[in-house]
Amino acid sequence: MKTQYWSVDKYVDNIRNYPQISQAASLLKQNEVIAFPTETVYGLGGNAESDEAVQKIFEAKGRPSDNPLIIHIAEIKQLNQFAENIPDHAKILMETFWPGPLTLVLNKRAGFLSEKATAGLSTVAVRMPDHPVALAVIKESGLPIAAPSANRSGKPSPTTAKHVADDLHGRIAGIVDGGPTGVGVESTVLDCTEPVPVILRPGGITKEQIEKVIGPVKIDPALDDAGQAPKSPGMKYRHYAPNAPLYLVDGSREYIQKLITENEAKGLKAGVLTTEESKGLYNAHLVLSCGNRSNLDTVASSLYDTLRKFNESDVDIIFSEMFPEEGVGQAIMNRLLKAAGHRVLS
Ligand code: TXA
Ligand code: MG
Repeated sequence: MKTQYWSVDKYVDNIRNYPQISQAASLLKQNEVIAFPTETVYGLGGNAESDEAVQKIFEAKGRPSDNPLIIHIAEIKQLNQFAENIPDHAKILMETFWPGPLTLVLNKRAGFLSEKATAGLSTVAVRMPDHPVALAVIKESGLPIAAPSANRSGKPSPTTAKHVADDLHGRIAGIVDGGPTGVGVESTVLDCTEPVPVILRPGGITKEQIEKVIGPVKIDPALDDAGQAPKSPGMKYRHYAPNAPLYLVDGSREYIQKLITENEAKGLKAGVLTTEESKGLYNAHLVLSCGNRSNLDTVASSLYDTLRKFNESDVDIIFSEMFPEEGVGQAIMNRLLKAAGHRVLS
């Protein structure tokens, strides 16, 4: 398949009038799938009303069909077509955090969306992305857009158009390049169908931010226990894993250096995932910094790019520092634990 590329400047007013946007939207209306930036990661969008389009998304990604997609909207009025019995706490969250990196799981109104998009569930996950390019493409298409992250299944999510091209060139109809995304980790998924909402996936909006607005919420117990079946189908799959085995290290820099030295003595090329603060302190084959420990937003923003950089290198084994599980640190540690297959050395 020929993949078309468009480049847009997200800072331009009225981006909706760009020919690139109308071309991308017109492909969506023809049930083709295209990638576009959101504030979290690049999404691979398709018409959520069409089985044909949704099938193309699953095929391009190599995604298991029991893993439902998030429906992306540009205007609140799109929501009532496919969701019903929306609880008050969900409405308050929409007013507070949309557009933004919060996905709400709501009761589905039957008969409107492709059953494949929601993997046959009675619920639907929906969000309004906070990115001018995503909003312009969705609005111009006039459709609810099903959009998983635009990576091949199992790979780290894409935060640049190049990441998307590396994974999906030739497999999708187009890529809208709007520069690097900002947040860097995916949206928080919150199940609002329970009396007390449950965080199914930590992400760009933190538990603390949500609780400030609607009071206490729960965390899906499966997030802390690799043995439990998660409620969010996607959370059970192997994800984000770099090619070389990754180990999280719950210990001092000296201990990490000891692990590096031991492994290099065995003839292995060791990589270390660290931050600006400590990158000068390691002696290893490859030292990669993914931001400032003093500002975890910067770590979230470059985490996936850093994991992908390890894949472009020749390291045999990777050790990573850990991060405090506060604020966006919860999402960072959730993704790192998955990338490491829950291997933690202490
Ligand atoms: O930031 C994001 O959310 C990005 C951008 C592109 O918007 N999208 C994204 O989609 O991360 P994806 O498909 O990679 O992850 C969607 C997650 C999966 O874990 C899936 O199982 C869960 O949302 N999900 C979707 N529908 C659900 C539902 N009805 N109930 C529970 N979990 C659901
Ligand atoms: Mg994904």
